Amino acid sequence: MKRVITYGTFDLLHYGHINLLKRAKALGDYMIVALSTDEFNWNEKQKKCYFTYEIRKQFLEAIRYVDLVIPEENWEQKVSDIKEYHIDTFVMGGDWTGKFDYLKDNGVEVVYLSRTPEISTTKLKKNLSCRHAK
Ligand code: CTP
Repeated sequence: MKRVITYGTFDLLHYGHINLLKRAKALGDYMIVALSTDEFNWNEKQKKCYFTYEIRKQFLEAIRYVDLVIPEENWEQKVSDIKEYHIDTFVMGGDWTGKFDYLKDNGVEVVYLSRTPEISTTKLKKNLSCRHAK
């Protein structure tokens, strides 16, 4: 069984996320999403999530391409996750191209998938607060 992992925040789940998850799952048989916790988002990325970790986790667990959701709590855990979950393929969106090539030394294939154009959580938040304020 080929095991795939990807990392992210997945707040206000949108079709860009679904496209990424679908293509990531197609690279293997079992897919794990390491979902950034609220603390990690705030402390390390200065991102305040609209939905809490538990709610974001529930959304991801309802998606057919996702087999397991684990917490992402720090930048360093990738190496131990790869070992613990016997990962074959590490996948990230194209916004991270090149940043995780060092993981190849841990025996995984590293794949960057192109982002879906014109959609992001940041853009959704901005547009919704303007157009649907009432
Ligand atoms: N992603 C994608 N296409 C998009 C948006 C996101 O493929 N249009 C991918 C990212 O590259 C990442 C994963 O989905 O691998 C989770 O991305 P995340 O940062 O949670 O989503 P964004 O919409 O980019 O959120 P933000 O605007 O807060 O950065």
